[in-house]
Amino acid sequence: MDIVEKFIGTHELTRKEYIELLRCSSDCSVSEKLSEEAVRLRKHYYGDKVYTRGLIEFTNYCRNNCYYCGIRRDNKHISRYRLTGQEILDCCENGYELGFRTFVLQGGEDPWFTDDRLVEIIRAIKAEYPDCALTLSLGEKSCESYRKFREAGADRYLLRHETADDEHYRTLHPEEMSLRNRKQCLYYLKALGYQVGAGFMVGSPGQTTENLAEDLIFLKDLSPHMVGIGPFIPHHETRYAKERAGSVQLTLFLLSVIRILLPKVLLPATTALGTLDPRGREKGIQAGANVVMPNLSTVKNRKQYDLYDNKICTGEEAAECRGCLSRRVESAGYHLVNERGDAL
Ligand code: 5AD
Ligand code: FES
Repeated sequence: MDIVEKFIGTHELTRKEYIELLRCSSDCSVSEKLSEEAVRLRKHYYGDKVYTRGLIEFTNYCRNNCYYCGIRRDNKHISRYRLTGQEILDCCENGYELGFRTFVLQGGEDPWFTDDRLVEIIRAIKAEYPDCALTLSLGEKSCESYRKFREAGADRYLLRHETADDEHYRTLHPEEMSLRNRKQCLYYLKALGYQVGAGFMVGSPGQTTENLAEDLIFLKDLSPHMVGIGPFIPHHETRYAKERAGSVQLTLFLLSVIRILLPKVLLPATTALGTLDPRGREKGIQAGANVVMPNLSTVKNRKQYDLYDNKICTGEEAAECRGCLSRRVESAGYHLVNERGDAL
């Protein structure tokens, strides 16, 4: 129990200590103690508010080939789509009426969306909705591109680092990608004044306790404003089709750990967590998460943004997801709010 007390007191541990802490993840008394402290911290900073982000998955074309991902380049068995600028704006309009004050533009690394095209879309959204925050999640770009998007009005950027261990990174990604570049992107984004989100999958193929300790050390060092974590879920058209999915319990444990590590962090209860457990997102909120990210994309394309198998919410309209999540958040004892929800 010593190690738990130390972590709660100092919000940081050594590599060896993180490993020791993580080895207790199946010990109920430890996870209870951590979630209690995580909830205390999230209530201290955020009360019972849960922020909501309207996710617009605007293209499933991707030049990358991450081995775990269903929309990777070499998957020839999915139909590709990209939304037009007008369709993206229509998603925002629908979202705004439903109370969303943050839009997240997420897509594969699609070369059709040049910097100029993206800048035009960013400008249009910010001109139409000046009271809303705009988050981008477009993968790895040059510092120059990130600067253009920032100048066009983008406020935040999500780029999960996926794993902070070099060797593990290599087993998840092809040769042409590197952890070094990914980390560099995150530091550029921070320097450009974005609110930045990093994160990783829990239980991705080959992930060890040591790897997770490395993720925690990296997160503490980067100190991002947001951290996205969700369980790995196999996709049938990938080399990891037969791998086991990540554990819901370990994901919840890590949500509490990350809340304590970075007390003010914006921490979503992810769709992947809701996919593996029907009450996953509620449990995530009760473990220390304070954000949910329902889908605003056009229903006709929902199923095509197929990162992993059995993804939930692919048949529901934005309004249905909003209502559903609002009820779920209430049932967990919290309130969904119509605010931008900026980092403190
Ligand atoms: N299971 C769970 N999460 C996945 N992602 C990609 N593929 C999978 C999968 N098979 C996550 C990655 C990426 C985010 C958009 O989705 O962490 O950063
Ligand atoms: Fe989409 Fe529940 S959040 S149906």
